[in-house]
Amino acid sequence: MARHSVRAYAKEIPDRDTIQTLLEAAVHAPTAMHEEPWAFVVMQDEALLRQVSDIAKPLFIARLHRIHRSSSHVLDDNFNIFHDAGTLIVICAKPSGIYVEADCWLAAENLMLAACALGLGTCVIGSAVDALNRADMKELIGIPAEYNAIAPIIVGIPAGEITITAKKAPLILAWK
Ligand SMILES: Cc1cc2nc3c(=O)[nH]c(=O)nc-3n(C[C@H](O)[C@H](O)[C@H](O)COP(=O)(O)O)c2cc1C
Repeated sequence: MARHSVRAYAKEIPDRDTIQTLLEAAVHAPTAMHEEPWAFVVMQDEALLRQVSDIAKPLFIARLHRIHRSSSHVLDDNFNIFHDAGTLIVICAKPSGIYVEADCWLAAENLMLAACALGLGTCVIGSAVDALNRADMKELIGIPAEYNAIAPIIVGIPAGEITITAKKAPLILAWK
């Protein structure tokens, strides 16, 4: 109930121990057949994050157009898809088992809840996935070719008011 996507961050970035705590929380997620397929990339290089953002934008716009969705907010030259956060954690995995992606997303939620408990903000940045999986970007970032980037999450110290999004009530299809 306390977790919300945060899209405005202080300049100061979380320290190594804090990031390590988040990764520990992530690896305590449930995992199909106890595969623990996740692997992590931590990005805190501002210029590199900007570079990934710039490459991601046209790819994301193209993806939105394919499903007939508007992309006006992404078109702004100054728009940084990482919302100027100083830390991006990318949960990656080799495409091995059938539940690899599910495992990674569960690890992602664990990480975000742990961050929330520590007073940090997070936001999933799905719009970065295509860019992060481009061969040249993988090489630049340090993601081995055999791994896929699955869940990119920005992390940081929230700055300003957090927008709380209204949620629909659970849609119960059956309760027999
Ligand atoms: C798979 C996935 C991809 C997302 N991609 C983005 C994104 O690219 N940029 C962004 O600002 N938020 C992104 N979000 C965050 C959602 O917009 C957010 O979770 C949703 O609006 C509900 O708000 P809440 O997280 O505050 O509950 C993504 C969330 C998920 C689960």
